[in-house]
Amino acid sequence: MGLNETFNVKIDSYDINGYGVCHIDKKIVFVEGAMEGEVVIIKITDIHSKFCFAKTIKILEKSPNRIESLCPYSEICGGCDLLHMNYETETKIKENKVRQTLRKFNYIENPIIKNDNQYGYRNKIMVPFRKDEEGDVIYGFYEKMSHNVISMDKCIISNDKSNEILHYIARYISIFNISVYNEEKNIGLFKEVMIRNTVLNEYMVVLIVTADYDFTNLVKFLTDNFKEIKSIWLNINSKLTNVVLSDSYKLLYGSETIIEDILGLKFNVSAASFMQVNHDNCEKLYSEALRLADLKPNMNVIDAYCGMGSITLNIAKKVNHVYGIEVVETAIINANNNKILNNIKNADFICGKCEDVIKDLSSKEKIDCIFFDPPRKGCEKSFLETVIQMKIPKIVYISCNIATASRDIEILEKEGYKLESVTPCDLFSRTSHVETVCLLTRKQI
Ligand SMILES: C[S@@+](CC[C@H](N)C(=O)[O-])C[C@H]1O[C@@H](n2cnc3c(N)ncnc32)[C@H](O)[C@@H]1O
Repeated sequence: MGLNETFNVKIDSYDINGYGVCHIDKKIVFVEGAMEGEVVIIKITDIHSKFCFAKTIKILEKSPNRIESLCPYSEICGGCDLLHMNYETETKIKENKVRQTLRKFNYIENPIIKNDNQYGYRNKIMVPFRKDEEGDVIYGFYEKMSHNVISMDKCIISNDKSNEILHYIARYISIFNISVYNEEKNIGLFKEVMIRNTVLNEYMVVLIVTADYDFTNLVKFLTDNFKEIKSIWLNINSKLTNVVLSDSYKLLYGSETIIEDILGLKFNVSAASFMQVNHDNCEKLYSEALRLADLKPNMNVIDAYCGMGSITLNIAKKVNHVYGIEVVETAIINANNNKILNNIKNADFICGKCEDVIKDLSSKEKIDCIFFDPPRKGCEKSFLETVIQMKIPKIVYISCNIATASRDIEILEKEGYKLESVTPCDLFSRTSHVETVCLLTRKQI
């Protein structure tokens, strides 16, 4: 088998990310864009000793579960990878991803929480701006495995109004000939735009640039045309880095935060704070986490990796006391304001790394339940060790990366915890990412 060689194959199954799987010369082949049961012509794109990757060149026998992608960029864009299949197949693949990754544990498997809106659900969009070869201003997502920006009109999983605002910004940048960033040469001004919106129809726009600049006219143009824009920020990031937002912010218009409503509570959210990207399924995810926790009014709880306090304050409504821990200072400022906004008295927010802060809490009082919602890399080992030492009876682990959650659950199972129940949740429709909420309890020894 050689690179770029083509084969006529039948696809046996899916891998955990929704690639079609077949076998050639005893090698497993992962085929992008192919579906179970299909007969396809594939081209080999990458070869390893035991497996290789290929892409679909032609479909000879089509799966009944295949649909026409609604996105014109799906072949090249590195964003959504499951646009070619119906939703039933997508959710089965996601359930299987969680099942396969957690197969060494014995637990109750709950069905995936589905997403009623599989398009237009994203409340945050972040897109680089560039100039194409003709010198026209373009914006869009990066091409798969590259830093080339694909010029797009619209991202179909993102909010319609945000797509429209992007269009206006690009027109303005083009008409007024504002210098646009060139990544290869690391020169030019206008780098990227982030737009965030809430269910209360409030929008925040962040213009990411390499140097300070007077955007008074752009701000007026945007706010005249979009009354929903409540906040516009400039973020100055001159570094050649993959980290899009720097710590250097300047408020150009309106309020510092926009307001979100989650399960009836109000939340101030800043540009730098984490907020789940799918509002409706975030509510379902939190409700499921609270259901699994089975909280009681006499309980003391920790919400680790709490962000702006959106789970913490929902926990507070049900328990004696809750501590939220979060490393980003702006998110903790939001969380403290959110506590006041919702007139909640039994929550305390602590700014710092969970692995450090939890050590102080461990000697303070008996904790009955802890929620973890870490970033993709999962929890620090020292954090888990303190949780184990504290003998906290119940853990609710929310994860956007089931592989690292599985690693952490294994550590916890070895030290007296049992994985009881797992519920996948489709927060990221049309992509292969899946959110999961897991309940662990401490075995009575
Ligand atoms: C997946 S988000 C969850 C936020 C929140 N629970 C929510 O649902 O909106 C993870 C959060 O953990 C924070 N974080 C990352 N590493 C951390 C650490 N070592 N200690 C505390 N917080 C951390 C991030 O800033 C982010 O707000």
